[in-house]
Amino acid sequence: MKITSNGLKIFENGDSKSLPVLFVHGFPFDHNMWHKQIEELSSHYYCISYDIRGLGESSAGDGQYTMESFVDDISLIIYELKLTKPVICGLSMGGYVALRAVEKMEEKFRGLILCDTKPEADTNEGKLKRAEGIKKINEDGLDVFIHDFMKNCFSDQFKTSYKNEYQKIIESSSEFDPVGVKGSLIAMAGRTDTTSYLSRIKIPALILCGEKDILTTPSVMKEMSDKIAVSEFYAVPDSGHIIPIENPEFVNKKISAFLNKIPRPL
Ligand code: MLT
Repeated sequence: MKITSNGLKIFENGDSKSLPVLFVHGFPFDHNMWHKQIEELSSHYYCISYDIRGLGESSAGDGQYTMESFVDDISLIIYELKLTKPVICGLSMGGYVALRAVEKMEEKFRGLILCDTKPEADTNEGKLKRAEGIKKINEDGLDVFIHDFMKNCFSDQFKTSYKNEYQKIIESSSEFDPVGVKGSLIAMAGRTDTTSYLSRIKIPALILCGEKDILTTPSVMKEMSDKIAVSEFYAVPDSGHIIPIENPEFVNKKISAFLNKIPRPL
């Protein structure tokens, strides 16, 4: 079922009485990133995905977002769907949202799954890259930006073996509202550093990273995992940054095993 709340498109799959799992996608993608996980997991779990404001089907509005406003949208979803302590699962930008949401209101969550993400804020170099990205969208168009950005997201193996799927993803993201895409870049550039909270996280965490990820490397993610008290880390074989699409079998297996150990709602 698809719900619209305050311009946000939210998608529900599975039985609402089951353990809720809230999926937060990466940039510049939409909820479809989790299609292969939700297809399998919704027979046992209440799977909620949504399009981050400005991306996919969620309205861009004025394009003025912050990481805090993205976290407010998480609160909105929890409230609207009356979710009792979901497990939150975020990839890259979705991981920034999940980490800040847990730092701000850990009591609202039962578990944390982080894929190909990091707790650090953007460096100066990173912020300048965001600015270059915005300039590229303004001067050359969103499609040129998306084409360039995606090159680093997927492994060479995926780009050659799944050429059509890769092209479709590029085409779909090129259809997004440029105002929303630029707004997400600014929100990421302005996010805070959540590193100091890692050692205080009490809920169990699953940390997954594509073994060929060049944006957030396995060593960076292993280091993050080591700082969390109850945490398991796995490198995902044959995968770059977008593990739910590049190796869904491995990712589904690890997520299922993790969710299996989480106590169910009463
Ligand atoms: C993502 O996949 O969400 C992006 O690579 C995150 C970023 O640009 O920092």
